[in-house]
Amino acid sequence: MTTPAYSPGLEGVVAGETAICTVDGGLSYRGYGVGDLSAHCSFDEVAYLLLYGELPAAGQLKEFQTRVAAARRLPAPLKELLAALPKWTTPLDALRTAVSALGHFDQDAADNSRDANLRKAERLLAQIPVVIADHYRIAKGLPEVLARQDLPHAANFLYMLRGAEAAPAEVKALDVSLILYAEHEFNASTFAARVIVSTLSDLHSGVTGAIGALKGPLHGGANEKVMDILLATGGPDRAEDWTRAALARKERIMGFGHRVYKTGDVRAGILKTYARTAAEANAARAGENDPLKWEDTADIIERVMAAEKNMFPNLDWPAGRLYHAMKLEIPLYTPIFAMSRISGWAAHVIEQLDNNRLIRPRALYKGPAARSVKPLAERG
Ligand code: CMC
Repeated sequence: MTTPAYSPGLEGVVAGETAICTVDGGLSYRGYGVGDLSAHCSFDEVAYLLLYGELPAAGQLKEFQTRVAAARRLPAPLKELLAALPKWTTPLDALRTAVSALGHFDQDAADNSRDANLRKAERLLAQIPVVIADHYRIAKGLPEVLARQDLPHAANFLYMLRGAEAAPAEVKALDVSLILYAEHEFNASTFAARVIVSTLSDLHSGVTGAIGALKGPLHGGANEKVMDILLATGGPDRAEDWTRAALARKERIMGFGHRVYKTGDVRAGILKTYARTAAEANAARAGENDPLKWEDTADIIERVMAAEKNMFPNLDWPAGRLYHAMKLEIPLYTPIFAMSRISGWAAHVIEQLDNNRLIRPRALYKGPAARSVKPLAERG
């Protein structure tokens, strides 16, 4: 048997085929550039595009939104489970547990067909924001806010979280971030989901595993770490020294670098404008006297990273700042990523099962040479 070629971290390895998304020639979903999508579509339209392959006509969008809105509720035992979780459970861990539990209650639980998986995908798209908002409010001792049927994905989430409708500009900014987070080819969490369902396992198992993969700070967890880093610098005055010292200690500046994009991430440029606008608007509303403090801090860190590491921001860099400007608590940032990426995960699970082959690569063995077992009494 010949030794297969080895690429650490699977860098550059083509591990499958997809019609959902490509990062070649600028990021696009089913042929549409993300700049075009974020300028002209809502997240709801993009989720439909990912799941069904085409942008919806007006009637299709309305029916899709009606179906999703009707599924914005959790089984009563799941609410009890969320309330029973230890108080130190993070929102992302609670979401991972909840998605696994939702698999038991899904009416198509035993059906792994394409149609059933589309129905399950729509339900998870509806339920994930409800889980995040319900767990948040339970953990804070706040009364439950029931989902609204008349609001799109982003607006309903903010409404459930806060118990009040958000300003249109805030909804738009969150919506754009969700569009940009929705899909990204064979990223770690999506690939994890595809590996899981390639055994002919089910969608909820794939998504539960994907959430586990998303959690890590090298992937989705980075958007929370971005804000931790900005706050740790203390502000623009100390940002340059702080960054240089962190680099000297060989620390990673979360929100920078990417396995595929080496000259910058188009998504980061799109969302930066929204982060800046939200910072100005929300800080002014709250009477803060330095509305662009974290934007200015970010600009300084960007300059240092470009000069010292030739490294550029990824989407998590402006997303962390946008959510902070929206006064959302940091542990919600990665769950928000998940409430968008569910559309991409589900599309990939369905695509994998459409033309499945077990994903089972090889490993390059580095262990001891072949040897014989000694009887227990002779070891030690
Ligand atoms: N800050 C400082 N140094 C870095 C960074 C960074 N953000 N990213 C990579 N490096 C250095 C790394 O230390 C290594 O240096 P050396 O060769 O001296 O050991 C070199 O660059 C190569 O790093 P790598 O980990 O082998 O590169 P990779 O292609 O495997 O990493 C990455 C990609 C995204 C994991 C990495 O750039 C990183 O850790 N970034 C910070 C976390 C982050 O922002 N993740 C979000 C990714 S994009 C959106 C998403 O998926 O959520």
